[in-house]
Amino acid sequence: MKFSKLTIALSSAAVLFTVGCATANNVSTVSEESLGFRKTTIYSESDTVADKTMYSTEAAGASKKINRAFQDAPPMIPHSVEGLLPITINNNQCTSCHEPAIATSMGATPIPKSHFMDFRPKHNYDGKTFTKAVDNMKNEVSVKPISQLSGARFNCTQCHTPQSTGKLIVDNTFEPAYTRKDGAFKSTWDEVILDNLDTLKK
Ligand code: HEC
Ligand code: HEC
Repeated sequence: MKFSKLTIALSSAAVLFTVGCATANNVSTVSEESLGFRKTTIYSESDTVADKTMYSTEAAGASKKINRAFQDAPPMIPHSVEGLLPITINNNQCTSCHEPAIATSMGATPIPKSHFMDFRPKHNYDGKTFTKAVDNMKNEVSVKPISQLSGARFNCTQCHTPQSTGKLIVDNTFEPAYTRKDGAFKSTWDEVILDNLDTLKK
């Protein structure tokens, strides 16, 4: 134990010595301010200011939709979610406006067909024995429309989140190459997932 502590001490001394020499010989110096994203010395917090997180404060109905990050990306929430979260089993206000039957009249994008589908493997439980679906070819997954919102889609904010408009420290140069003209505002899933799709049907 003692030996290893000594070894560490010696090696750190060696590192310090090397760094010291480099500085002394003016070979290269790296300022602390240039090392991280904060651009201030690590010895003082006083002038270190983080950029503010700024979520939309516009109420639903008054906000402007945000371009999708890529074709079929889950859209970001453009409106304020104040008072709408957390989503609980008895209180999901998102569905009260985005439910397909009412969404259009509310000016909201309807929850797409994909959210009314079951993509889960078909395990069996007869009340006594649980048998896991184990087909490695994934044929046990029956993708079919269901009459209600899939449980896997109930917690909207698991995939759809508000977007902060704060400044990025590192610029994002990614440009989406949408496969459709309206890709910035519309998903293609409603087209590709057909009404009567049931992959277990023979
Ligand atoms: C009072 C009605 C209302 C409620 C409640 C509501 N929304 Fe919205 N939502 C809208 C409207 C209207 C829009 C269109 C933008 C606008 O007009 O503000 C929208 C837009 C969106 C979008 C962007 C859709 C697109 O095509 O880009 C997403 C995602 C979204 N809402 C998710 C949610 C989630 C998640 C919740 C629950 C936390 C929620 N909304 C609650 C009305 C609502
Ligand atoms: C497991 C992740 C996930 C959850 C949970 C989820 N979504 Fe989505 N959502 C997506 C993805 C991915 C897309 C884009 C592909 C598609 O249309 O299915 C999408 C698309 C959408 C769209 C745009 C549809 C269009 O026609 O362009 C709306 C509106 C939406 N979701 C609302 C909701 C609401 C409201 C909830 C909660 C009730 C919810 N989503 C839950 C992943 C999710």
